[in-house]
Amino acid sequence: MTLAIETEGLVKTFGSTRAVDGVDLAVRPGQIYGVLGPNGAGKTTVIRILATLLRPDAGRASVLGRDVVRDADEVRRRISLTGQFASLDEDLTGEENLVMFGRLLDAPKAEAAARARELLDEFDLTDAGALRVRTYSGGMRRRLDLAASLIGRPGVVFLDEPTTGLDPGKREELWRMVRSIADRGDTVLLTTQYMEEADALADEISVIDQGRVIARGSPPELKRLVGRQTVVVRPKQSSRIAEVAAILRGVAGHEPRTASREVLTVTVDADTQFTDVVRHLDRAGIESAELSLRLPSLDEVFLTLVGRTAENGTQEGEAA
Ligand SMILES: Nc1ncnc2c1ncn2[C@@H]1O[C@H](COP(=O)(O)OP(=O)(O)O)[C@@H](O)[C@H]1O
Ligand SMILES: [Mg+2]
Repeated sequence: MTLAIETEGLVKTFGSTRAVDGVDLAVRPGQIYGVLGPNGAGKTTVIRILATLLRPDAGRASVLGRDVVRDADEVRRRISLTGQFASLDEDLTGEENLVMFGRLLDAPKAEAAARARELLDEFDLTDAGALRVRTYSGGMRRRLDLAASLIGRPGVVFLDEPTTGLDPGKREELWRMVRSIADRGDTVLLTTQYMEEADALADEISVIDQGRVIARGSPPELKRLVGRQTVVVRPKQSSRIAEVAAILRGVAGHEPRTASREVLTVTVDADTQFTDVVRHLDRAGIESAELSLRLPSLDEVFLTLVGRTAENGTQEGEAA
């Protein structure tokens, strides 16, 4: 199977900054692939190399089997990059903009018009299509921008932080659009700073920091990698805290933490360990004032991963 996107040992430096420092990616056709990382991690640089706008200093990259340096023209014909290639004309209507992009790609007039209507419909802009773009809200603009990037029926769509700055309602609207692109069989490579966004959209994620991939896997794999759950127990009688500690130690296989004089917590690997704790407490006749299983927030997962590299500056923790 030809991968939709493949990079090997990709490196790009700007002066003394190693913006991309040996990135390997393997994206299967039809996937939504998330590149997740904080500001300055190298996300845009990776996308610019893949979109043939920058040459790598070392390593290689291909899109739909074509090398981004040697076969740059062919790559360019098969991709779209939102916000870069599509620049909307404020004085034209949404529909006129889309027709214009179609004409620029040499589509006959009737075909460009039909394609424009089809995309307006798909991106919930049928009514807005008759309005000038200058009257559009931020969310409508992003959607039109996305629609414009699909005029040429690209096989691979690059979305560089498509929802940064959008409010949550608009964000979910755009997520639906991104899913519909993948549902048609196109491959989407999406960068984001938001774990939540990568989780909502991506089939697979590479977490990058300081130009390196520090973890990769499906969202559940990443969560399992660092996302340990925490059991919290507050016995009704604080005199039984030592017994509770023994139970938690027995189930989790390591020392529980004392959150306060009456509350113990312990990290566990599996939901079933929570059930085990409940059963043991019950058997011992220990009643709880509080008994819960706390999930890590997605941001905690991300911060744990990024924090790790900040501490030791090395690559570690690959899930797959
Ligand atoms: N054209 C450039 N000239 C100099 N430094 C750059 C250039 N583009 C990016 N960088 C630097 O490379 C690093 C990665 O940038 P970038 O790829 O834009 O990260 P991200 O998109 O993840 O925020 C940053 O330190 C940034 O300042
Ligand atoms: Mg960027």
